Amino acid sequence: MTCNSRSFFSGKFLRFILAGVAGSSLLVVANDTPPDRIPSYVEWTQHTIAAASSGDAFRGMLLAKRCEHCHGSEGFSPVASTPNLAGLDKLAIWKQLEDFRARKRISPVMGPIAESLTVHDVADVVAYYGALPVFSDPQDNRSFPQMRSNPDHASVASRLISFGDGSRGIPPCQACHGPVAYRPGAASLMNQNSEYVLNQLEAFANGSRANDINMPMRTISALLADNERHALAEFYGSGMGLDPNSSK
Ligand code: HEC
Ligand code: HEC
Repeated sequence: MTCNSRSFFSGKFLRFILAGVAGSSLLVVANDTPPDRIPSYVEWTQHTIAAASSGDAFRGMLLAKRCEHCHGSEGFSPVASTPNLAGLDKLAIWKQLEDFRARKRISPVMGPIAESLTVHDVADVVAYYGALPVFSDPQDNRSFPQMRSNPDHASVASRLISFGDGSRGIPPCQACHGPVAYRPGAASLMNQNSEYVLNQLEAFANGSRANDINMPMRTISALLADNERHALAEFYGSGMGLDPNSSK
């Protein structure tokens, strides 16, 4: 952490000078994404995991009143471009809120909201959303499928989710996003909204979202073809992502 912050500050200082020379700090900082840019200040140490797991779900429920308008009551967002938070892995929610706060993940909507939360608040909302049921909730008023689906897409998606594509070096999604295994910080996508999944895959592919540690998602998503990103979004947004083999 110390080492990261030190290199960040020296990098930032350099950029600041460059920005001053160019006369427009915002423009230069926004366009300046050197390959060694630190994707996130979050590190998966025991300390981080303990901090992310220490929240008070009841207090989180009260705080979540601020989030309901967009993320839906009980975490099921009615808007397909806004993510569901119900039952998401705690570490994943925690990391995203920390990244929004640190501006490592840029969102004009979530940035100021996350900044308004204290470290305690973050742990509490994480405890609340992480404990909500993922399926069969009366508050889930979404209708499926969320995207017009192409009949050929189901097999494209389920192959990538279960097997990946060895010839292009793409690992199976389920090795990190479940149900087979979970990588710390990788959210379950099983009941996510389609348009949100598509937007995130596109953002990773074009680098506008760059907060993935060791860049698995920027690498994988850039290797996918456009129709594959659509197929995966349709699949996960079908509400059936729990078990790829159970799909039509
Ligand atoms: C005005 C609407 C709005 C409100 C209010 C709002 N959010 Fe969000 N939230 C969004 C949108 C839109 C995104 C997706 C941002 C993106 O596309 O990068 C998002 C993304 C997130 C994510 C990332 C999820 C993921 O799977 O990566 C988390 C976590 C989150 N919000 C938590 C919260 C919490 C906690 C609150 C309340 C304290 C809250 N949000 C309030 C609109 C909102
Ligand atoms: C090697 C592990 C790994 C593999 C394989 C992987 N992912 Fe990810 N993915 C991650 C991690 C870690 C994150 C969280 C990045 C971060 O910290 O912001 C993530 C984030 C995402 C997100 C954003 C989720 C959110 O809630 O914001 C989407 C969508 C996604 N991955 C889709 C996929 C798809 C589709 C595949 C298969 C083609 C895939 N991933 C394969 C590790 C992986």
